[in-house]
Amino acid sequence: MMPASLPTPFQLISLDSVGSTNDEARRLAQSGAAADLLVVSAQSQSAGRGRRGRAWVSPAGNLHFSMLIRIQSLHHAAQLGFAAAAALVQALSTLLPPHTFQAKWPNDVLVEGRKCAGMLLESAGSDWLVLGIGVNVVAAPPPQGLNHPACALADLDYAGDAAQVLEAFCAAFAPLLVAWRQQGFSPIRQAWLSCARGLGQPTIVRLETDTQTGIFAGLDEEGALLLDQGASGSRRILAGDVFFPDAH
Ligand code: BTN
Repeated sequence: MMPASLPTPFQLISLDSVGSTNDEARRLAQSGAAADLLVVSAQSQSAGRGRRGRAWVSPAGNLHFSMLIRIQSLHHAAQLGFAAAAALVQALSTLLPPHTFQAKWPNDVLVEGRKCAGMLLESAGSDWLVLGIGVNVVAAPPPQGLNHPACALADLDYAGDAAQVLEAFCAAFAPLLVAWRQQGFSPIRQAWLSCARGLGQPTIVRLETDTQTGIFAGLDEEGALLLDQGASGSRRILAGDVFFPDAH
């Protein structure tokens, strides 16, 4: 991709092909070369990682990057995944009107119900969050073996490139990060819930060992999904795959 031109205070390192940009960013943090809001992007990844141990198909033309964010403790770091998802929804909505982008718990971005982007949050020591984001710009993974339908921005006739998506993301993310640092999770939760898929709707969550159903009632302080199970009460879900039975 053409090197992106990022607004201050973001800095960019553009690489050709790497294993995983999350690993490159972590290496920089561990070697003392990290800076707050340093972005490491790569044309392609040979060992891109998704959530829950899955692979992330990462061909040239798609967007793969990891942002180093200085944090004071890991305790609330997961909240930044919701800020990033809300920012990416805003950025893509600006680039591709009139398509409807939504956030899907925990950190996916959907367009008209199909996944076009995902995020993987990892830590590098206790001072750094590695926010890894992949956006299907030119190609979606083949449908075999996917839990959810996927799509690429090119399927929506997007004529821009990955660099433009990165620039738009940074512009949308900057004010949310400032809000988070000054006011905590409340404005982030509000931003995320306002673009979330399935709020108040029947929801199925596939966990490691079982499946839970209920009404998707919101997010708690740690970003856990709150599932209202009627007479059985409310359940907090910290990791799982979400499905909406009415999805078509
Ligand atoms: C998911 O939806 O499962 C998360 C996908 C995260 C992919 C991105 S691409 C850039 C960064 N490097 C990786 O190896 N993974 C993340």
